[in-house]
Amino acid sequence: MVNGPLLLTIAVLGGTGKEGKGLAYRWARAGYRVLIGSRTSEKAVKAASEIMTLLEGSASVVGTTNLEAAQQADISVLTVPYSAHRATLESVKDALKGKLLVDVTVPLVPPKVSKVQMPTAGSAAQEAKEIVGSEVEVVAAFQNVSHEHLLGEEQVECDVLVTGTSKKAREEVLKLVEAAGLTGWDAGPIENSVVVEGLTSVLININKQYGSTHAGIRITGAPRK
Ligand SMILES: NC(=O)c1ccc[n+]([C@@H]2O[C@H](COP(=O)([O-])OP(=O)(O)OC[C@H]3O[C@@H](n4cnc5c(N)ncnc54)[C@H](OP(=O)(O)O)[C@@H]3O)[C@@H](O)[C@H]2O)c1
Repeated sequence: MVNGPLLLTIAVLGGTGKEGKGLAYRWARAGYRVLIGSRTSEKAVKAASEIMTLLEGSASVVGTTNLEAAQQADISVLTVPYSAHRATLESVKDALKGKLLVDVTVPLVPPKVSKVQMPTAGSAAQEAKEIVGSEVEVVAAFQNVSHEHLLGEEQVECDVLVTGTSKKAREEVLKLVEAAGLTGWDAGPIENSVVVEGLTSVLININKQYGSTHAGIRITGAPRK
């Protein structure tokens, strides 16, 4: 895997949406080459142009289809609603072989999004692993980070728990967390993503009950290296 922001290309699949566009903005700002993926390239080109405008042209953001983005990228980041999770992965899985997939998907089942409802695979990330197969490392991250403050300079008050199929892959994604201006924690194997994904419904519940829009989590009591 390539190291160093300027050499690394990140595809954000579904990057036209709220969470994906915010993450894409942050990685572009940090110097990564970013590809916005969409079902329609026109929509992706528009989203890429919006990010380039925000960054006053001093970045590399290009819009294209999800498949082309995944083909060209070193790392693909999936940011689509759970209802589109399987179909999107099926459409790009051949392009992911030998690479790293970061799954941001939370398996919310509307209308009861404040209730934890996990899929039979355990979590969306474990389901992703089943779909993409043994040749793809899968890391789950960012599920607890609201999009609200990603598209801007504001400090995001939420840590990122990173789980995944190998320590090396988790370390790679922890670099992306830091590049996005957030604090990440290696939270262990992909099986642990069940808890992290489920936590999002807990945060949505808290938002509803306390009138907030972006409740988050912080890890305390653990020293940073
Ligand atoms: N929003 C948040 O604050 C937040 C926070 C943490 C985690 N997440 C998770 O991140 C993921 C994305 O959330 P979001 O709020 O960014 O979602 P979103 O804005 O509703 O959708 C993201 C993108 O997914 C694609 N999409 C939507 N419906 C689709 C369908 N039926 N089939 C295929 N593609 C479809 C669309 O891209 P195209 O039309 O361009 O293809 C859309 O722009 C979700 O799993 C969510 O749970 C979100």
